[in-house]
Amino acid sequence: MLSNRMLEGLNKQLNYEIYSAYLYVAMENYFQEKNLEGFANFFKVQTQEELAHARIFYEYIYRMGGKVTLYPIEKPEENFESILELFKKALSHEKTVTERIHKLVDIAIEEKDHATNAFLQWFVNEQVEEEESFQRLVDKLELIGDNIQPIFILDAELAQRIFVLPAPLAQGQ
Ligand code: FEO
Repeated sequence: MLSNRMLEGLNKQLNYEIYSAYLYVAMENYFQEKNLEGFANFFKVQTQEELAHARIFYEYIYRMGGKVTLYPIEKPEENFESILELFKKALSHEKTVTERIHKLVDIAIEEKDHATNAFLQWFVNEQVEEEESFQRLVDKLELIGDNIQPIFILDAELAQRIFVLPAPLAQGQ
């Protein structure tokens, strides 16, 4: 059984995960327009991951006897000055997601909701990976600077990314 405060927090995070997917579609568009298909693929997979994150919240809310509430999805930013600026914004976005997840854990602890605390730990770990992944790319892009050749090499690397169903969905948790 979820408290009203916990339920509202989970529903708002479900919404924010869908917003994250929307933001990453905007970032995919930036690369589609530049014909950088590997970068576009990276954000296509990122979008799939975010929608999967939303689904994990969805399933959990119903398993706990709650009700999913849908909120409006905010329009994401669509104009980016450079590839580096775009990735810095993605990293900053993921840091915001991390803060939000940590606040949900704080609520779960305050409410003595051990089940939701345990559920959220997967997201705590996932956010370590999310920030690491974007930080690594920001670092590489800062080294690359304005050199186009390494951008094409990175594009080829990012073309290899594939979507893997996150463990909570793969295991039907
Ligand atoms: Fe759902 Fe990128 O965190």
